[in-house]
Amino acid sequence: TTGVHAAWLPPEAFRALGSRRVLVQGAEAGAPAGTVHEEVARACAAYGGRVGRGPGGETGPYDLVLALTGAGSALPEPARAQARSARGTLGDEGFLLARRGGVTVVLADAPAGLLYGLFHVVRLGESAFGGEDGGDGKDGGDGKDDLPAAVHRPALRTRMLDHWDNLDVHPVMGQVERGYAGGSIFWRDGGPRGDLPRVRAYARLLAAVGINAVSVNNVNVHAAETRLLTERLGDVADLADAFRPYGIRLHLSVNFASPVVLGGLPTADPLDGDVRAWWGKAAARVYEAIPDFGGFVVKADSEGQPGPFTYGRSHADGANMLAEALAPFGGEVHWRAFVYDHTQDWRDRSTDRARAAYDHFAPLDGEFAANVVLQVKHGPMDFQTREPVSPVIAAMPATRLAVEFQVTQEYTGQQRHVCYLGPMWSEILGFQPWGGADDGRRTVAALVADPAAGGGLVAVSNVGDDPYWTGHPLAQANLYAFGRLAWAPHADPVALLDEWIDLTFVPLLSRDPAPLRRALHAMMDGSWRTYERYTAPLGVGFMVRPGHHYGPDVDGYEYTPWGTYHYADRDGVGVDRTRATGTGYTGQYPQPWSEVYESQERCPDELLLFFHHVPYGHVLHSGATVVQHIYDTHFAGADEAARTRSHWRELAGAGLVDAALHARVLERLDEQVRCAREWRDQVNAYFLRKSGVPDAHGRHIP
Ligand code: GCU
Repeated sequence: TTGVHAAWLPPEAFRALGSRRVLVQGAEAGAPAGTVHEEVARACAAYGGRVGRGPGGETGPYDLVLALTGAGSALPEPARAQARSARGTLGDEGFLLARRGGVTVVLADAPAGLLYGLFHVVRLGESAFGGEDGGDGKDGGDGKDDLPAAVHRPALRTRMLDHWDNLDVHPVMGQVERGYAGGSIFWRDGGPRGDLPRVRAYARLLAAVGINAVSVNNVNVHAAETRLLTERLGDVADLADAFRPYGIRLHLSVNFASPVVLGGLPTADPLDGDVRAWWGKAAARVYEAIPDFGGFVVKADSEGQPGPFTYGRSHADGANMLAEALAPFGGEVHWRAFVYDHTQDWRDRSTDRARAAYDHFAPLDGEFAANVVLQVKHGPMDFQTREPVSPVIAAMPATRLAVEFQVTQEYTGQQRHVCYLGPMWSEILGFQPWGGADDGRRTVAALVADPAAGGGLVAVSNVGDDPYWTGHPLAQANLYAFGRLAWAPHADPVALLDEWIDLTFVPLLSRDPAPLRRALHAMMDGSWRTYERYTAPLGVGFMVRPGHHYGPDVDGYEYTPWGTYHYADRDGVGVDRTRATGTGYTGQYPQPWSEVYESQERCPDELLLFFHHVPYGHVLHSGATVVQHIYDTHFAGADEAARTRSHWRELAGAGLVDAALHARVLERLDEQVRCAREWRDQVNAYFLRKSGVPDAHGRHIP
């Protein structure tokens, strides 16, 4: 849509495809296969190719065949033979890609697979047709540019983005809770925003990275949003219509107290017959309007939201009631595990917020209905820059689990700082909760991918009505990487960055992209660790300004009810979560982690202060003392932020990126450099004053 940045789907990214002769077979099957035909037709109109729907003759021979395996004899060779042997093996979303005799073939059993196959071809560019140099794609079958048949399937069944969008501007949170990219693309002034082309453009970007589910309203469901389930269902259906052509199912966050708020019932008790009947009818109405509706997302008994605790019921009772209402229609409940006491007394050293999700949910393993997915934040606290992996993930083998990430950068620079999160997410996905030995080869990714038990990967979206979608243009890479990691959790995050660069910037260039590529890698590959260096040290977390969570405030949360403390005094810092002397949180992990984290000697440096309270003179594996590490990393991190800006400045005027985009990024980098210095100085001054230990290198600490 006009005035909106094309992100990773500029028209130029379709040049290779659009200059070919393409057969799209199966488009008549409707959405989303029809979308494939539309995409190809648009690309061919722009770049001189031709698109056909028939087996040959009228536009053939073809360079590219995109077809459903069921097409059979309607296909030209070599696609026909391949379809015969692949048929029924590709699944709902998978596709096969091959190239033989100068013809590139994409086959899928189901329409969604065809769509993902198309976007894969877009990503490959010329190399889908025999490579940059050799292949003109018309060499007529000497076999030199053949590609063996490769099957691509998503590792995870659900690949979802949650929007924390409110219908109107919320007095404290703005319109999009923790949103840093303007207003909602769905809602405005209490109703639909009415820009469905923008929603469609968003759906298209998401489909291109493999996302297949979205929820369109905030998990904190306020009064107006509660009514999306009833009076506003028509508006929700309009959004579902915009997502459907791209294979994306729509979900709603619902208010657990809806039977009271909307239905006028005296209770929302999940075991009450009238309450159950109310939800059953509500679900039936939703499916009448949206036959492929995905289901409900629920934040219950969490930060003030209503839930089953009010009625003395368990979270399994609550989730299963909603599951029962959705089950006849194939819907699912995403029940969030973010349950903790947000009104704790900071004086009470026995309560540990990190323990809460496990304490509440692990005992319920096996009690959730088959269409309940327990949605667990990746760490035990709240999307901090560095946290251990949540122990809930290993504790519930009989429960379908989805892991929740935060693409929106609430705690990682709020889209003013460059912070590429792909490396963090890939560490989490590769984490082995039972260690690396024998039966312990299972990773977080494998757990959420389990075809029987898996729930998938969910993230809070970073998108708003900003012309660059994400406020900071480089934050688009986080959205890109999230989708791709949900499809292929073991993909290399730096390679994903290259993919993103290749689609977003390179197709627009007529000159050598190498300097741009080098600069972006220098700025982004290590940016998460840079951010970690100048913010809260060694896994201790928070130290952010209360409320909006931007910028440093070391003691901002220290004496509040939120459970997010660092316990720094003149002798040391950190939270003792050991079994021996602390809160016992380490005991929530299986071996070996329960022992590794319990031990000051074995605990990884980056998590030391999450698990242990240590003296400032404690020596890390790196050889530095804790306090010297704090000084060193804060000086280094702020310097790295300044270097990040220099890399970008050097690109100015080189014609490698659009001038407006360059200016937007530069303005954000100025703020990042300022804020990183502020972090450096506040954290360093704080620990110098607490500890009295001078910097070994005599640098200036205010
Ligand atoms: C964080 C965030 C809230 C959000 C909550 C959640 O605490 O600051 O804005 O509502 O997470 O995930 O529910």
